[in-house]
Amino acid sequence: MSQKFAGVKGMNDLLPPDIDVWRFVENTARQVFGCYGFAEMRTPMVEDTALFVRGVGEGTDIVGKEMYTFCDKGDRSITLRPEGTAPAARAYIEHSIHVKEPVTRWFYAGPMFRYERMKTGRYRQFSQIGAEAYGSAHPAQDVEVMELAVHFLQAIGLGTVTLQLNSLGDASTRPAYGEKVRAHFSGHPLSPEATATLAKNPMRLLDSKDPELAGLIASAPVLLDSIDDESKKHFDEVRRLLDLVGVKYALNPRLVRGLDYYTRTAFELVADDPVLGTASAVGGGGRYDALVEQLGGPKTPAVGFAMGLDRLCLLLAAKGTVAASRPDLFLVAFDDSCRDEVVKRVTALRHQGLKVDFDSRAGSFKSQLKRSENSRALHMMVIGQAELDTGRGRLKSMDLPKEHPDKEREVRLDELAAALQMNGNS
Ligand code: HAM
Repeated sequence: MSQKFAGVKGMNDLLPPDIDVWRFVENTARQVFGCYGFAEMRTPMVEDTALFVRGVGEGTDIVGKEMYTFCDKGDRSITLRPEGTAPAARAYIEHSIHVKEPVTRWFYAGPMFRYERMKTGRYRQFSQIGAEAYGSAHPAQDVEVMELAVHFLQAIGLGTVTLQLNSLGDASTRPAYGEKVRAHFSGHPLSPEATATLAKNPMRLLDSKDPELAGLIASAPVLLDSIDDESKKHFDEVRRLLDLVGVKYALNPRLVRGLDYYTRTAFELVADDPVLGTASAVGGGGRYDALVEQLGGPKTPAVGFAMGLDRLCLLLAAKGTVAASRPDLFLVAFDDSCRDEVVKRVTALRHQGLKVDFDSRAGSFKSQLKRSENSRALHMMVIGQAELDTGRGRLKSMDLPKEHPDKEREVRLDELAAALQMNGNS
């Protein structure tokens, strides 16, 4: 018996009709992000491992535990990208974009890879749609990207997602706050994992979902109380401008994010929906003013976010609001003598931009009718000798009930495309 294969664990196939939801989200993103002046860019799926170690941070779960890293045939250490911000910054530097324009707005969509413990909404290959804006340190830029994220969610029908907001201050104030957190947690019994996190990156403990730590996290010192004055001013202005453009948000002083490059504004888009289980963050982002320089580029302020497509699509599929794509017409040949005419007409209609289906197995009349029903086409028509002689056929709407007066209407065969287009189907 030949061997049967299954896909790699944590990596999903995407099949019709589910893919219609994905295409709807991607197409809406292209349209909405375009309105804000974000131009699409793409980076390779793999990068030099050091890019992520330096960019995302050695102490993060992503770099410490989750990267797909391997040596290529030239003995170079290569990593499947776990996120898009460091690769985009690498491209920004490599192509000297800063000398071409003072402010650059980019977006990308594509697969990312993290070797994570799998559960609903958490996969090892997942897709992100991300936006990055380089060159502006002004709070208006933070607000532009957050407003874009919220507006995009509204455009796909997920307007109830909450924007959670915090400020992480600048990198210089972080160590002092880290010490406060360390002092707060030390002296309490902690798991070996929490002890290691406390030693390496104490702020990350505030992000822990461990129920044993919930009490200590709740009473921990608040980061916002420790940030520098400039960051405070920046944050106040961000909040004022969010109000100005009517974006609602919830302050979350415990929000620290899982990547090291953030400075000042940090945010997450959180959906309160059981469909996602505990993977409730559909997006996250923030300001990262030091990253470009840290990766060898010029000093360049930047801010951005990424949304998890898999999670957005899980939410939308459960809501059932995105209509699956359907053929405009299914053409049926009454008998063998009409099959060539059906093939010719199907081809011509497709060339006119209509979605047209027919039974390519040349089945019996009865089985073609069955297929026309299963095709979920909006209309069907039978082509027989009588239709060919008169140049007219009966266009049947598949959605209307039998007794409806508009269930069937006569149309000229040479006006079929116009009749279908008038119905606004394609
Ligand atoms: P992140 O929070 O790591 O941020 O990921 C952004 C979003 O990607 C998450 O909110 C989630 O929806 C989705 N996501 C992450 N991991 C998984 C997974 N294993 N399975 C399914 N979905 C997942 C970043 O990646 C930053 N690069 C965002 C950013 C852009 N910050 C500034 N610019």
